[in-house]
Amino acid sequence: MGLRNTTLRYGSLAVTLHWLTLLLVVGLYACIELRELYPRGSEPRELLKTAHFTLGLTIFALVWIRLAARWSGPRPAVQPPLPAWQQAASNLWHLVLYAFLMGMPVAGWLVLSGEGKPVPFWGLELPPLMGEREELAAAIKAWHKRAGTIGYALFGLHAAVGLWHHFVRRDNALLRILPARRRAPRGGRGARA
Ligand code: HEM
Repeated sequence: MGLRNTTLRYGSLAVTLHWLTLLLVVGLYACIELRELYPRGSEPRELLKTAHFTLGLTIFALVWIRLAARWSGPRPAVQPPLPAWQQAASNLWHLVLYAFLMGMPVAGWLVLSGEGKPVPFWGLELPPLMGEREELAAAIKAWHKRAGTIGYALFGLHAAVGLWHHFVRRDNALLRILPARRRAPRGGRGARA
């Protein structure tokens, strides 16, 4: 499997970034949920929050590389082809996911900036996106938390649709984003993936 996408399959860069993003999303959600086990201000709670911020900002950085990978080559088509409305829905869905993966980190970054707190990133400190504005930060935080909860549904639906493609529609939508060695060696979708 080459680094870049072809019309038949995603390249290794896109495949790696897709599954790495999944790992980061799982880690980020785990950190922010597990913080509730510890009292406010305690060291483990603060560490878990720092990990949440760092993983979220890492996702933000990776999204740009994913977009560059997507724009730098063709997008492998689903085989057998999707009806036009499903293709349009799929394009829109990917747009929603990218907007989420970019909007959430920026919102979090704005929250920390507005609260006058440091913005940690793998031992570095990123510059604030705005000056201290407690009220605005509180409003963005409330939005960030609500959207974060909606994120569970977004990612759940994304996974369910992937499985529907594979097991019900029996096309290559899921196979084309799996590492090459996991693809079926024979049959319509394996051969095309
Ligand atoms: C894809 C990226 C992200 C997702 C999906 C996400 C999701 C979430 C979720 C689910 C919560 C907990 C909501 C609750 O307690 O009800 C949360 C809280 C929070 N997130 Fe994020 N987040 C992301 C990135 C970031 C980033 C990059 C930052 C900061 C740089 C950040 C800052 C915060 C803050 C400040 C809180 C509130 C923590 C608290 O009050 O204890 N988030 N986020």
